[in-house]
Parts: sequence; structure tokens; C-alpha cells
Amino acid sequence: MIHLEVAALEEAEIPLDRLLEGRASLLLCYPRFTREEAERRLEELRGLGVDAIILEGRHEVEGLKVLGKGHVSIAVEARVDDEVYALKIRRTDADRESFMDEAEKLRMANEVGVGPRLVRHTDNFLLMELIQGEYLPEWIEALSPGDAELLRGVLKGLLEKARKLDEIGLDHGELSRAHRHIIVSGGEPRLIDFESASTERRVSNITSLTQYLFINRRMRRLISRIIEPPEIQPLIEALKQYKREPSDENYRRILEVCGL
Ligand SMILES: Nc1ncnc2c1ncn2[C@@H]1O[C@H](COP(=O)(O)OP(=O)(O)O)[C@@H](O)[C@H]1O
Ligand SMILES: [Mg+2]
Repeated sequence: MIHLEVAALEEAEIPLDRLLEGRASLLLCYPRFTREEAERRLEELRGLGVDAIILEGRHEVEGLKVLGKGHVSIAVEARVDDEVYALKIRRTDADRESFMDEAEKLRMANEVGVGPRLVRHTDNFLLMELIQGEYLPEWIEALSPGDAELLRGVLKGLLEKARKLDEIGLDHGELSRAHRHIIVSGGEPRLIDFESASTERRVSNITSLTQYLFINRRMRRLISRIIEPPEIQPLIEALKQYKREPSDENYRRILEVCGL
């Protein structure tokens, strides 16, 4: 039994030297694989210091386990020395030329303690802290009625992060449909994916997140199993006020209306 598990682990980890031999090379160069591009990317990956790709995660691409798949990238686990990180691989059909912009926004977020810690990046790869845990909706689903305080803590922590992003003028951009962009890890809510983040737009992290949590039907229903959700009208009023003037006072008013 133990031997089988070890064998499975070994199979999941593919050293860069063997990456182009097997099907996992598809991930390097997805969805349009060419040998030439894959070889170029492999060199880029070596330059990043990555030793191996690890086929683990809750999603699948072409039957291969991955951390996730977005419009811009495929995310996989990657080993550098003895540490495991998350690696975003730019899709060949991405509408972005490189990870330059995302890395810059992630770095800004990191400065206020938000987002996976950025390690380094190239045009086609972004290496960062691996966030282990569950997506927020699944995490809430697994709670029991006695977990009200735990849930309040996570929701408050989330709003605090959104507030920090508001304060530095960085709009995450995907918090109004955040099903796959919030992971609860060791009791801490973590925001991921700064691909759509911008400093050019008016920030709406708090308003988007609050709408997602308490006005979006699916989330409101989930949350209602554990805690009393805020009344919608007072919440909308508080959000309007915050939008007019994103002061500390108006932020605290939102927390209060949400019972956090
Ligand atoms: N740092 C990370 N740790 C763990 N999982 C991650 C991390 N970054 C991304 N993922 C997973 O990969 C998925 C796709 O990543 P995402 O950043 O959303 O890519 P895209 O920019 O293409 O939308 C996410 O929904 C998440 O499941
Ligand atoms: Mg995404």
C-alpha cells in the first residue's frame, strides 16, 4: 500500500528533463501545441529555477491534474528545490502578451499583505506561493451551524483585504463573481488571480465583494445556513455611501450592517 502511494507520488512529479517526452508537455503549450514553442518555453522555465511540474489539483486539463484553468493560463504545482509553488503558464491563445502586468499588480497587492506571494515571473510563467485550501463556496458548504464565529471571521478577513486593495487604488476586477478566486487556507481567506487587476479603474473591491457575498443568490443562500445575512436595503445604502466617500467610517458602517 505504502509502496503504491510512493509510486503515485513519483508519477505525479515530472522533472523538466522529461517534460517534453510525455503528455504533460501539453500544459506547457496549451491549447495549441508546437514542438518549437514548447522547447522555447521549457528553456524559459529552467531559467525560472523550476525543477519539476507536479500533476496535482482539483481540476483536469486533457486528463492531467492541474490547480486550475483560466482564460489566460493554466495553473499547476511546481517544485523549486524542496519547496512547492503555484505556477501559472500562459495559454497560447491568451489575450495577454505576458505576465508582466499581472506580476506588477500582484506585487502591489503583496505590499499590503494580499494575494499569493509572488516569487518571480517571465513572459510566459508566473511563479508564486501555493495556496492550499478550498474555494470559499465549498468551504462554507462544509460548515455546520456551530461555525458561525468561524464564518464571520473569514468574511471579515475578506472584507479587510478588499478594503486594503481599495486603499491602494488597486481594483481586483473579479470579485463580483469570485467563485474560483477566493481560497480559504488554514482558516484565512486568500484572494488569488490579479490578471484583471487595474489601477486605472475606479476601485470597487468592497462593493463587488459585498455584492458577491450577500446579494448574489447562491452565496447568500449558503451563508444563511450558518449566520443571519444582512438585510439588503440597508446594505445597499451603506454601499452607496461608501461609494460616494470610501472613508474608514463608511467602511465600518458596512461591517456593522453585515454584522461583522
Ligand atoms: N497561487 C495559487 N495557489 C493555488 N491555486 C491557484 C493559485 N493561483 C491560481 N490557482 C488556481 O488556478 C485557477 C486559475 O488561476 P487564475 O489565476 O484564476 O488564472 P486566469 O488568470 O487564467 O484566470 C484558480 O481558479 C485556482 O484554482
Ligand atoms: Mg481566473
